This record gives sequence, C-alpha cells and structure tokens, in this order.
Amino acid sequence: MQINKNVFGGPDAIKDYLNPGNLPYLPLVELPSTLNPFTEDGVRIQAKLMNLLPLGNVKALPAYNMIMEKALNGDLENVSELIENSSGNTVFSLAIAARQFGVEKTNSYVPAEISWNKLLMLLFFGIHPIVNKEPESPSENDPASGVFKARKDGERPDMLNPGQYENPDNPGAHEKWTGPQIWDQTDGKLSLFCAGLGTTGTLIGTATYLKRKNPDLPVVGVMRAPDQYVPGARTEKLLNLVRFDWRSHVNHVERVDSEASYRLSMAMSRLGLLVGPTSGMALAGLLQHLQKVKDQGQLDQLRNEDGEILCVFPCPDGPLPYLDEYPKYVDASEFPEIRYKDLLLNNPE
Ligand SMILES: Cc1ncc(COP(=O)(O)O)c(C=O)c1O
Repeated sequence: MQINKNVFGGPDAIKDYLNPGNLPYLPLVELPSTLNPFTEDGVRIQAKLMNLLPLGNVKALPAYNMIMEKALNGDLENVSELIENSSGNTVFSLAIAARQFGVEKTNSYVPAEISWNKLLMLLFFGIHPIVNKEPESPSENDPASGVFKARKDGERPDMLNPGQYENPDNPGAHEKWTGPQIWDQTDGKLSLFCAGLGTTGTLIGTATYLKRKNPDLPVVGVMRAPDQYVPGARTEKLLNLVRFDWRSHVNHVERVDSEASYRLSMAMSRLGLLVGPTSGMALAGLLQHLQKVKDQGQLDQLRNEDGEILCVFPCPDGPLPYLDEYPKYVDASEFPEIRYKDLLLNNPE
C-alpha cells in the first residue's frame, strides 16, 4: 500500500482502500460569494465533502468503524449475518464493510412506504430487505418497530445488529477522522461548525474532537422542520428517539424546510460540488444562524485571529439518488424548459 500515492494493492487492497484511516483528507472547499451572502462581513464558508468517500456518502465512516471495532473485539467470530434498520446510506455502507470482514449477508428492515428506487438500490448491493409496517407514532421500544426488531434479531449468536443509533463507534468514527481533518485543514482557526442531524453521529463525534481543541467553539445542529422531507435528516420529534445525548454537544439549533434544502443542494451541484439535500439543509441552517447572529450585532464575537469568521459544514452525500425529488421541492422556474416536449416517447407526466 502506497498511501501517499493513493495506490492500494495486494489481497487486501479493497479493504485498505475502504479504511478511512488510509485515505487522503477529504476536500474542504470554500463557497463563492454567490452562495455566501456574508462575504462582505468577512465570513468564509467551507464545505467538507464527505460525498467523496469511496462509497459516496458519510456513512462509510461509521459503518467501517463499527464493523472494524466489532472485529477487533472478537465479536464477529460466530457472526454470519448483519441486521440493521435502515433503507439508505447506512445499510449499504455496512453491507460493503461487513463483506470485507467476512460477513457476507446483510439484512435490512425497511418501512412499508419505501420507494421502489431505494429498494432497487438495496437489491443492487445484494442487501436482503425485510418490509416492516412501522407503528403510527415511532418508538424504538415498540416491538413492531424496525429498530426494535433489528435489536432483537441481533441477540442471536450468528447475527449482529451494529445499532447506529446507540453504538459509540458511530460518533467515534467522526471523532477519529472527521474532527482532526477539519481542525488541521483550518489550521485551528475555525470559528463555527455546523452539521445536519440524523443519527447525530457526525455532529457529536466531530464536535467532541473540535471542542477538545477549542472548548469555546460554537456548534450549530440543523434539523428538518416539522412535516418537512429531507431524507437522512430528522425532525425534533424523531431526534427524541435517538439515544445519543446530542443536545449537550450543540450550542444552537436551526430548523430548515425541504425547499431550501433541495434548492441549495442544486445550487452547489450546478457549481461543481455534487452534494445532496442534507448538504443543502446544513448550508441553509448555517446561513439562517449567521443572519440571526448578524441581526443581534454579534458577528464580531466569531472572528478568529485573522479577523475572519471561518465556518465549516459537512456534505453527507451526492444528489443523484434523489434526482426525481428535486422538481417536487424546487420552483419550476429553476429548471430549463424542454423544447419540443411533445415529441418525447417516454414522458413521465
Ligand atoms: C444523506 C444523509 N445526510 C445526513 C445524515 C446524518 O448524519 P448523522 O447520522 O451522522 O447525523 C445521514 C445519516 O444517515 C444521511 O444518510
């Protein structure tokens, strides 16, 4: 393995390539003033591109870390199958990591309302879906919930439930890799860290490392507003089901709607940062927060030793899995017209 040249060889080449500890830093890219209305105020906003991980999404980090730690503890010895409650990035990242550690089969509880496209994605990656009718008001302790069923199945000696909502190796991955990268890439001059909230692993792990370096660093957590759809992120009600104590790691909370999330994701993508709806949500939450601080006349409190306000937000994945959702949330005027549309042989409308 020649890490400095990004070459991976030998029988464990793919395992080495998937190990986040062997990868070069993920890019930190500053947004132009067209996406940063606070440029004149000395604010710099940088996107941490987690979408450039080998599996194209942020879950590659906790998935690898959770499986690696289980293997190191000898907890995989009799395990032949994985079980998780997830219909997206987590289970696909887990299935791939698990194969590298000798666990070939991954099963996943998926909600009855799962989209056909997502189901196709699971099948593409060789994951075995188990459709579950979720209870009306979600609770992890309801025996009918997928989270509960996965935890129960995981008690079998041949099955493992990594349990992303309570496994410390989920935030631990970000404490180990994401936090140190951001601190190093910003030369310790970071003014504010802002992240979306799903399992809350990204925010907790990254903030734990960054606050160890600078206990006064403000951290903003972004959730989706009630009744808004942004896949991967949670509303406050759903966050109450997460066992991690995420509230003790955030200084401010912002709530963001679907429209802003999808619109900003599309705007970043059109400039060359190929990021999905939760990236747009994190940016929208950051801009919302900066506007509040500015309105209160407190921007100067965020300036670093160079007189700048340096903000970082992670971008969890790319836009392609969600392409058909953008026209539902972004105004039609944002999309170019299709000329001679009536000639189309396969018009979905
Ligand atoms: C697309 C996407 N964005 C954001 C998140 C949230 O990250 P975390 O679970 O670390 O809070 C997830 C997590 O599943 C995700 O899949």
